[in-house]
Amino acid sequence: MPIQTSISVSRRSVLLAGAGLAFMQAMRPYMVNAAALNELRITASPARSALTGSTRPETDVWAYDSQVPGPTLRIRQGEPARITVANKLDQGTTVHWHGMRLPIAMDGVPSISQPLIEPGETFTYTFTPPDAGTYWYHPHANSLQQLGRGLSGVLIVEEREPVSVDRDIVWMLSDWRLATDGGIVPGFGNAMEAEMSGRIGNTVTLNGVVPDDQPVQSGERIRLRLVNGALARIMALRFEGHRPVIVAINGQPCEPHEPEGGRILLGPAMRTDLIIDMQGEPNGRFAVIDDFYKGDLTYALTHLAYSSAPHSRKSTPDGGLRLPANPLPEPDLATAKRHDITLQGGMMGGGALKGVGGMSRMSMSGQADIAAWSINGMSMTGDGQAGMPPLLTLQRGRSHVLTIRNETAWWHPMHFHGHSLKVLSRNGLPVPHHQWSDTILFAPKDTVECAFVADNPGDWMLHCHVMDHQVAGLMTILRVA
Ligand code: C2O
Ligand code: CU
Ligand code: CU
Repeated sequence: MPIQTSISVSRRSVLLAGAGLAFMQAMRPYMVNAAALNELRITASPARSALTGSTRPETDVWAYDSQVPGPTLRIRQGEPARITVANKLDQGTTVHWHGMRLPIAMDGVPSISQPLIEPGETFTYTFTPPDAGTYWYHPHANSLQQLGRGLSGVLIVEEREPVSVDRDIVWMLSDWRLATDGGIVPGFGNAMEAEMSGRIGNTVTLNGVVPDDQPVQSGERIRLRLVNGALARIMALRFEGHRPVIVAINGQPCEPHEPEGGRILLGPAMRTDLIIDMQGEPNGRFAVIDDFYKGDLTYALTHLAYSSAPHSRKSTPDGGLRLPANPLPEPDLATAKRHDITLQGGMMGGGALKGVGGMSRMSMSGQADIAAWSINGMSMTGDGQAGMPPLLTLQRGRSHVLTIRNETAWWHPMHFHGHSLKVLSRNGLPVPHHQWSDTILFAPKDTVECAFVADNPGDWMLHCHVMDHQVAGLMTILRVA
C-alpha cells in the first residue's frame, strides 16, 4: 500500500504562515501534526428530510448528521484523517470509504474489517489518503436498507495544489421509492427485483432534494463532481448546449476527454469529475437529461439556469484540464498473473446457478438472503461474512490481470475494495484515456480486462454495487497476502 509518508503542509497553515515562509520551512516538521490532522465526526441516526421540497410530506430517513446526503467530508491528499462515526441508529452499522486505498482494518466491512458499531457506540477510522479525488461513504451493514434509507455522503480528497476552476460543485444523486405520503416504500430485498435490475426508485434527488434549476454564470469554469449514490439506478447524463470534459473517473484522473456520444454513463457507486465551461448566454436555460432507460423513462434531471450577469471572463482560463496524477502503482503486464472471473445468474441467466455454493442466511432485516447470482460458481450474500473462503489469493506485491466476464443478461457496476484497477480492454478493444477505476460498469455480456498491483494486504470485497445483486450473491473476496 503506497501510503504517503511524506508530510505536506495544509493549505490553512500555508495561509497562516503568510510571508514568513522561511520560518514556515524551519517549523515544518513540528507544525504538521497539529495543523494537518483532518479530524471529523459524523453521527448516523434517524431523521426527517424534505426530499421533494414541498410537493410531498417529509420523509423518515436514516442519515449522517441528520442530513441527506450526509455532510461532504473534505480531507487532504497525503495527510492523516481521523473520522469518528457515532451510531444512534437502532441497529449495528459500519462506514465504508468507497474507492479509498486504505488499510483493511479501516474498510468498514463487518466481520472482516471490524465488528459492527453497535447502537450507542462510536468507532474512529484513521487513514491517510494516497489519492486525491471524488469518493463517497456509506454503510456496509444491512446495506440495502441503510443505504436505501439515506445513509451516504461524499468524501473529497483535495489535491495538494488546488485545481484552477471558478467553482467546485458536488452533485450527489440518489434514487428513492417514495409513496404519496412521502414515506419510503418498504419491501427492500424483493426476490424478483434481486434477480433483475434491483430496486429502482421513482424519485431522483440531487444533493437530497428533487432538483430545481442550478444557477450558473456565463463564462465560469466549473468542476462538477457527479456521484451516483443510488441503490440500483444507472444514469446517462447529457448536458444540452454544453461540452463537458471528463477529467476523472471514480476518483482517478484520466486523460481529459469528451464523453462518447455526449453521454456520461454513471452506474451506482460511480463518480465522474467534469470540467464544464459555461458558454451559454446570460438568462439561458439548458436541460440536463438522463436517458439511460430511454423512451418514457427519459427525464430532465435538472436545468442549468444562467443568471443575467454578463460574462465574467472573455476567454476560457489558461491551464490544461488535466488533474495531477495520483501515485498509483503501474502494473507490469509482462509478468502479471492472470485470473478469470465469471459473473452468472439472474433472470434469463442461462442455467447460471448450477454449482452455487449457496450460502443463505438470515440478514439483519430478518429476510433470508437469496442466492440469485454467483461469481465463479459461488455466492456470497449479505454484506460481508467472516469465514467465507476467498475466491482467489493474490500474491502480494505482484501484478495481476483480471478478466471479468458478465455472462448475465443484466448490467453490473462491479466494485473492488482497497485498490484501483487499470481498465485495459472491453470486449477485446483497448479502453482509451488511461482509465483507472474502483467500480467498472458491465453491460450484459461484457468482458473487461483490468490490471493492478496487489500492494494492499487483506481480504477485499469484490461485488456488484446494485445492492440487491450484492446481497443476493454477486459478491466475493479476493485475498492479497
Ligand atoms: Cu461502495 Cu463494498 O462498497
Ligand atoms: Cu468500496
Ligand atoms: Cu449487479
